[in-house]
Amino acid sequence: MDIISFFPSWILPTTLLLFFTSIFMYALRMRRSSIRLPPGPKRLPIIGNLHQVLGKEGVHQTLWNLSQTYGPAMLLHFGAQPFLVISSTEMATEVLKTHDEKLCTRPYSKATKLLSFNYMDVAFSPHSDHWRDMRKVVVSEFLGAKRIRLYKNMMEIEMEAVIRSISSHSLNTTVNLEDILLSLVYDVVGKVAFGNSYRGKTFNGRTLKDIVEEVQVMGGASFSFIFPTFGWILDELTGWNRRLQKCYTDFDGFLQMILDDHHDTKTSGHVNDFVDDCMSRLTTEEMKALMMNVLEGAVDTTTITMVWAMSELVKNPRVMEKLQNEIRRCVGRKSKVDESDITKMPYLKMVVKETLRLHPPAAFLMGRECVSQCRIGGYDVLPGMKVMVTAWGLGRDPRIWKENAEEFYPERFENIKADIGGKNFEMIPFGGGRRACPGNNMATSTVEFTISNLLYFFNWETPAGLKKEDLDMKENGFPFLRRTTPLCLVPTKHNWED
Ligand code: HEM
Repeated sequence: MDIISFFPSWILPTTLLLFFTSIFMYALRMRRSSIRLPPGPKRLPIIGNLHQVLGKEGVHQTLWNLSQTYGPAMLLHFGAQPFLVISSTEMATEVLKTHDEKLCTRPYSKATKLLSFNYMDVAFSPHSDHWRDMRKVVVSEFLGAKRIRLYKNMMEIEMEAVIRSISSHSLNTTVNLEDILLSLVYDVVGKVAFGNSYRGKTFNGRTLKDIVEEVQVMGGASFSFIFPTFGWILDELTGWNRRLQKCYTDFDGFLQMILDDHHDTKTSGHVNDFVDDCMSRLTTEEMKALMMNVLEGAVDTTTITMVWAMSELVKNPRVMEKLQNEIRRCVGRKSKVDESDITKMPYLKMVVKETLRLHPPAAFLMGRECVSQCRIGGYDVLPGMKVMVTAWGLGRDPRIWKENAEEFYPERFENIKADIGGKNFEMIPFGGGRRACPGNNMATSTVEFTISNLLYFFNWETPAGLKKEDLDMKENGFPFLRRTTPLCLVPTKHNWED
């Protein structure tokens, strides 16, 4: 009897299997131990670093402070989810340029999936052919030459109405400029995209503005996002699931109402809006998802930028006076500011850039997720890691903006050739790489046009009893950083004879 037949027949294959499995496990352990994760503060079991970020200062400030200790590529855990927090131009360049392809998908969440109509949109959709197709539709149909012409005409008409309305107030009346500007942008975007501002309409008793705000809140984190295994129980117990479902029902209902209005026969002379032009070639879900992107992407961001620009100008009378001189010199004595006048206003462009540097409406770029392992700043970034890039921090980094980084000083752009379109990443209010904001030009020209009109026709003061230098500039909020108090100012009509 030979030795082989002495052992049962299964012993050889089992031994070989165990042998190769241990070699594989050993190799895996060696590989894991050679992984170099970014540094970060110590975390607690279950909640991770949540207790360190939910402070009064706001997440943008807290994470910036932590990055000064742990570095510009820092790893934190929110619940069970690992987040890479990026806080320098160099690291942002690695994320948005060098490894853009590996880091350009968006994280999955129950809320974004539902509110984007199953990821039929551009902004929340994973990196895919569908995302590419939808982005092309937004770029050609909402941001293309034909629509921009309509947008500019509409902007002129609505701006004139705003000027008339402000002029009709009696002397020394305080106006809530924030409300005025939000209505202006809603009216223009609504008419260009949907043929109507829909400001007076409601669905289930809620206005479009209320629903859009709720969509922003619900699109943020939920328990199931940060605790994938048991978070759904907390979402159910806290009523978050019901709130999400209600938000979706109202949003879907409102958008359906807009689409239904587009089935009516058109009167002669009707000018096609964005929905008219896209309806026949997109599904209902794709149409609603793009309408969501336009509402969520264009309205609040643009308004917030205008409000911060006016806040900084009032707080800095030197800049206000210099800008008003430029605007009034370029326009001369006319009944309106023309687009061609604005091309001759370099200081206005610097003021808008400076506003976006200090007050990028989105303190963090939209969340990204790693799809394939790469190295950022010499550290390993693993698939599934979420990436947060701080636009707010980069705009205030003293290594780039020197010792007066916190000061509103538009003249700095005479010497610094920082672009805002996502090429060099010194400041990134519109993000960068393939997921960069496609509405960058439309947004900046809207802000420039509005500010030039407000400053051409009026002088602006703080309400009686409030000194300009005491104007409250506190900011907070998610996903957008807004003023914590409304911007209320006193306009007086400019008198050319003075
Ligand atoms: C001042 C105004 C605006 C600001 C500050 C802003 C900012 C941003 C930022 C930071 C992102 C994320 C970029 C990234 O992840 O790298 C983004 C994405 C986006 N924005 Fe804007 N935005 C503004 C206006 C607009 C306008 C007018 C539109 C017009 C439709 C728009 C449409 C979008 C879309 C569709 C995306 C998603 C892009 C993608 O994921 O491929 N935004 N925006």
